[in-house]
This record gives sequence, structure tokens and C-alpha cells, in this order.
Amino acid sequence: MKSNYKILFISSEVYPFAKTGGLGDVSNSLPKALKDLDQDIRILMPAYPFAIQKADSIQYVAKIDLPERGFPGHLGLSYQQHRSKEKNQQNSVAIIETTLPDSKVKVWMLESELYNRSGTPYSDEDNQEWPDNDFRFALLNYIAVEIAMGRTELNWQADIIHGNDWQAGLAAVLLAQETVAKRPASVFTIHNMSHMGVYSRKRFDQLELDPQLWNHHELEFYENFSFIKGGLIFSDRINTVSPSYAKEIQTEEFGYGLAGLLAHRKDRLSGILNGIDMQEWDPETDPMIEKNYSLKNIADKQANKLSLQKHFHLPVNKNVLLLGMVARLVYQKGVDLIIKDMEDILELPVQLVILGSGDEELEKQLTQWAKKYPEKIQIQLGYDEALSHQIEAGADAFLMSSRFEPCGLNQLYSLRYGTIPIVRETGGLADTVIHASNENLNNKTATGIVFHEDKGSTVLDAIKLTSLLYQSKTIWRKLTSNAMKQHFSWQESAEHYLSLYTQAIEDRDKIKTQKPMIK
Ligand code: ADP
Ligand code: GLC
Repeated sequence: MKSNYKILFISSEVYPFAKTGGLGDVSNSLPKALKDLDQDIRILMPAYPFAIQKADSIQYVAKIDLPERGFPGHLGLSYQQHRSKEKNQQNSVAIIETTLPDSKVKVWMLESELYNRSGTPYSDEDNQEWPDNDFRFALLNYIAVEIAMGRTELNWQADIIHGNDWQAGLAAVLLAQETVAKRPASVFTIHNMSHMGVYSRKRFDQLELDPQLWNHHELEFYENFSFIKGGLIFSDRINTVSPSYAKEIQTEEFGYGLAGLLAHRKDRLSGILNGIDMQEWDPETDPMIEKNYSLKNIADKQANKLSLQKHFHLPVNKNVLLLGMVARLVYQKGVDLIIKDMEDILELPVQLVILGSGDEELEKQLTQWAKKYPEKIQIQLGYDEALSHQIEAGADAFLMSSRFEPCGLNQLYSLRYGTIPIVRETGGLADTVIHASNENLNNKTATGIVFHEDKGSTVLDAIKLTSLLYQSKTIWRKLTSNAMKQHFSWQESAEHYLSLYTQAIEDRDKIKTQKPMIK
């Protein structure tokens, strides 16, 4: 039977309004795919000033008064010392409605002084995390629950509340305090287990969370408390963004202290691979790249390569293997593994272009390599959406040496653009790229190069192999063709989310008491 749900999708970033990584992409394309499956989905995100600016048209659709007690909003505002003189104003927030571009998906942006800052969703312009992120995102969760319970002027009530990452972890906790029969079912998606939203007891009290939740079985986490733990314990269903990562987070190495809990709830935990936005990332129509191409006109890809070399002031040479990388420059992405082997990598007949920003030390080291070997490696620091498309189109191969990767989108974009992904065998990378072994090349399944130190191959070995394969036009052509024939659209994944929503509702209905059923 076909289900039609009312879904409130909570996310701290939604492309094109706000994006720092893959969560932004997913929060755009998954809701669109669910809308295509006739679901009534609404997105709730903070109204960052840069997000409002990017919206085509906006409308104020609701004002929500915050009660004095049991609600952190007024505390958050006083923390910021932004209290206005007028009492009503300090204790109310507004909902601004817009839509996702090229779609009918409604986006509700939550307007509050807490979000009225420049910088990124999480940090200031100097990359320092906002010290009150707990208040900022708790407010998002409190309002989400008010909306989902049908207690606002929006006059809309949810069947499902779908939270993403730690910033949305408290929604399920707050929902669990509502009467079971009346509350929406909750689904929580882990995009990254390493960000856990950990804060002190003092902040817990200031947030006016139920003191009874302060215990090891609920929110307490090594003498602090954690937003993500709340989401993992109280949600009716939990998922992550690839089957491999769903298993990995149940191990000590990737579970960050919550592996036991995840293993305990494994019957409620699943992995659903991300898809990609097939319109946004299509080499045949992409307006941001030098020349459009497809598998049929694959020779046209070369114009993108030459243009990329020019952009980065590298020697323009169609025969040299051009490696690309677009990433947050952080430990997760294994940038240090590349840096460690850089001297040897650059001795190979390759060029390397990098777009990214993040850790200062990693940025510094990469910049030093680019200064030392400007004809081999170039880096552009910062965030540049158009250039990220140009690298996907222009590079021959794409480097992702991630230590862990819940799903990863760039390898999926790379496959679609015929840019061979070189990936470490972990999480979603392991689930989506098939190694170019002799056997896989022969049976036409190979789509990239996969390495793993534990299995005796390093990023350097992987690049050496790529360079070797690149020298054979026939093999490279085969790899490119296999890669471009892969299909990672959202449609199938959205169907899986729909089943997950049904399961969450069934699980909620099994709960007899007001407390969630933790098996
Ligand atoms: P993560 O979410 O861990 O950063 P993903 O591979 O899921 O990794 O998604 C990263 C997304 O962010 C991709 O769309 C990628 O193109 C984009 N991205 C990352 N860094 C930059 C950057 N510096 N400029 C433009 N886009 C970037
Ligand atoms: C996270 C992960 C990345 C994933 C993205 C979207 O940021 O690091 O692997 O693709 O979320 O789910």
C-alpha cells in the first residue's frame, strides 16, 4: 500500500541556502525525491542571514511565542545579551517560508537572534565554533517539536519527524516526553558520528532538559551530555548513509563511545546509501563547466581538463594524469595520508589540484607543497561551488583518502563525470566504488581504484596503479565507461526512507508507555 506521510525534515544546512558539506546536498535532494513520491515534506532549518538572502521569495507565515519555562529560547537570547526591551519580541521566533529552487518542497526557516550572524552555520568568520551552538540547535529542536505536534499557527502536524546529525538529536528526546498516541514517529539519520554535540551539565540545566534524563542510559555522556546520544536512544528508527558505515559505527574505532549503544539498537539501525541530484550533477547539462559531455562525446571532457589546468596555472598538457580533490581539509578526509607521501606522489607523471578549506595546519602544509612544486600541485583555499563542478569535470581521477566516510558524495559525482575515483576502502566509499583488479576489469565491473593500508596498499600505491592504468587508453576508456554507467539516483534511496518511516510508525505504535522502548 502506498503511504503518504507528513514529514518534518530538520537540518542545520540545506543547499543552496547553506552548505558546508554533504549534509547540505542531501537535505536538498532527499526531500525533493520524497516529494516526487507524493510525500508532504517540509524542511525546517535556521534562518541564517546568508540563507535568507539566497531564497527567491520569502513570506512570514508564523510567529511562535516561547513559554517562559521548559524552553531554552529566552536563555539563549539572554546568553547573547541580545534582549530587546519589548518583552514579546525577546520570547518569540518567526517562521519564514520559501521553497527549494526548482521544486515545490516547502522550506521553513526559523528566525531568531541566535542565527542572525555572519560566518558559517556553525562558526564565525575565523572558523571558531559559536560557543552557544547548544542553545542555537536546541531551539531548532524545540520549535520542530512544536510544529510537528501541530501547536503553531502553521496548522500542520507531522506523522514523522526526521532529524539529521547531532544538531537535530534533541527532537526525539523532546518528543518522547509527549503522549505516545499523539506524537509523530521519529527517524534520526547519522551523517557523521564524529560530531556528537557534547555539552556540560550546566548547559543541560540551562536548556531546562528534564533532570531525570541525566543518567548513563539516557543523555549523560562521560559527565557531559550529548545531543547525538539523545537522537540515537530516543528515535524510533536510526539510519546512517551507507550499509558499511552502519556496521562500522558499531565498532569501538568508529563509534566514539557509543558503539555499544548502537550495537544494542542494531535491530533499529540501518544503512541507506545517499544518492545524487541527477540534474545538479550532470556533465551533459552542467552550466558551471567549460564544455558539456556525455559518454558518447567523452572526447569533449578534455576541454574541461585543459581549462582546469589553465585555471590553476599548471602546464597545459592533455597527456598528464590530472588528479583532483575537493574536500573539507580535516582529519576525516585523510589529507595527512596524502601529505605523508607527497614527495613520492609528485615524482610520478601526475598533476594534483585541490579545492578545500579546514584545518589550518593541513592548509599550510598543502600550500607549502604547492609553493615547492608549482608545476605539479596547486591548491585553492576556500569554498567554491562552481570550481568543485569544474574539478569533477576536468580531472582524470578524483582522490578521496578518507579515514572514515559515512557515505561521501564526491566519488558519486566523479563516477557520473567519468572521473575515476581513487578511494580508501571505508564506509560509503567501499560500498560504491569497485576496484580495478584484473578480474573486475575483465568482467567490466571496475569503476575506480580502492586501497586500504591494512590490506597492504597506500594512497601512493593507488596513485601508481592509477597512473599505470591511465597509460592504457583501452583500459582507461573501459573504466570511464563503467563509471559513467553507474546509477546513484535518489529515487531508490527515497523509497528506502519511505519504508523506514513506516517502520518507525510501527515501532512507535508498539510503545505502551510514555517512555521510548529501548530494547
Ligand atoms: P562531507 O559531507 O564529509 O564534507 P561529502 O563527500 O558527502 O563529504 O560532501 C562534500 C560536499 O561538499 C560535496 O558536494 C563537495 O563538492 C562539497 N565541498 C566540499 N568542500 C568544498 C569546497 N571547498 N568548495 C566547494 N564545494 C565543496
Ligand atoms: C557527512 C559525511 C559524508 C556524507 C554526508 C552526507 O558529512 O561525512 O560522508 O556523504 O554527510 O550524508
